Amino acid sequence: MAVRRLHPEQPSGFEFSPENLAWADQLVAKYPPGQQASAVIPLLWRAQEQHDGWLPEPAIRVVGEMLGMAYIRVYEIATFYTMFQLAPVGRIAHVQVCGTTPCMLRGSEDLIAVCKRKIAKAPHDLSADGNFSWEEVECLGSCANAPMVQIWKDTYEDLTPASFEKLLNGFAAGNPPPPGSQAGRQASCPEGGPTTLRAYAQAGAVIAPQAAVGGAVGLSGAVAEVVTTPAVSDAERPAGLEAPRGGTADDLKLISGVGPKLEQTLNELGIYHFDQIAAWTPAAVAWVDNYLSFKGRIDREDWISQAKALAVEKKR
Ligand code: FES
Repeated sequence: MAVRRLHPEQPSGFEFSPENLAWADQLVAKYPPGQQASAVIPLLWRAQEQHDGWLPEPAIRVVGEMLGMAYIRVYEIATFYTMFQLAPVGRIAHVQVCGTTPCMLRGSEDLIAVCKRKIAKAPHDLSADGNFSWEEVECLGSCANAPMVQIWKDTYEDLTPASFEKLLNGFAAGNPPPPGSQAGRQASCPEGGPTTLRAYAQAGAVIAPQAAVGGAVGLSGAVAEVVTTPAVSDAERPAGLEAPRGGTADDLKLISGVGPKLEQTLNELGIYHFDQIAAWTPAAVAWVDNYLSFKGRIDREDWISQAKALAVEKKR
């Protein structure tokens, strides 16, 4: 891993915007007394988002002061995790290319060659127009879909040099492709689709025996056609409530991936409680996913398991 140091040129100060400050206060208040330091990573991340995608030294101090942490402890976190950028990054995209073994074996060096050709020869240098920058990082947790890159919060997986160039061109044109696999597979399902009938059933697929051929799976000698895209119709819309039970909705923001805006949208659908989400069928997930234009995000972030755990926790 590269040595990570603060950039030699720093702004004179940093202040959270009023909106971000209110958000930070709300977040910190969620932690029990004495545990406020647990909010350090989200606060640093929000500071980075506010400061054009990189974290200046004064922001590290501000976060330390807000959380009652020694400056050195916040500095250690900011310099350890590659999610924090310590120098200015491209205005449109900072590309983090995973170079760890699975990605390397599947072609990450070819992706780095594209970065060197299209962005800048050296990592962390800005492209000539200042719109792009890149770096190599360690495993980003999408090894099953190697090789991959992360840009801001999203990952782009199953890349080839050609699809990676297309991705960069999409960002440059303001029209990047949806995150996730760039080879068309869902999440990390096997290439060509699931390989067992149980996997199809769990994905909410419709299995039609005696049908023809594409993606056919043998079943006791019969031929089964497998329709991998769950049907999306209003019949599959998950049942909603008129109002939260007992007048109090669960804090759906505790589900990772749900923010205030999304919580409001879910409430508008009549979804107020963890146990409602925990009970969603694959078809209901597909309906909500389609309604929110999420392209598989609910499954990727595993809302169902999160909601189940939160529902159990709530009952205790
Ligand atoms: S090795 Fe690249 S994401 Fe894990």
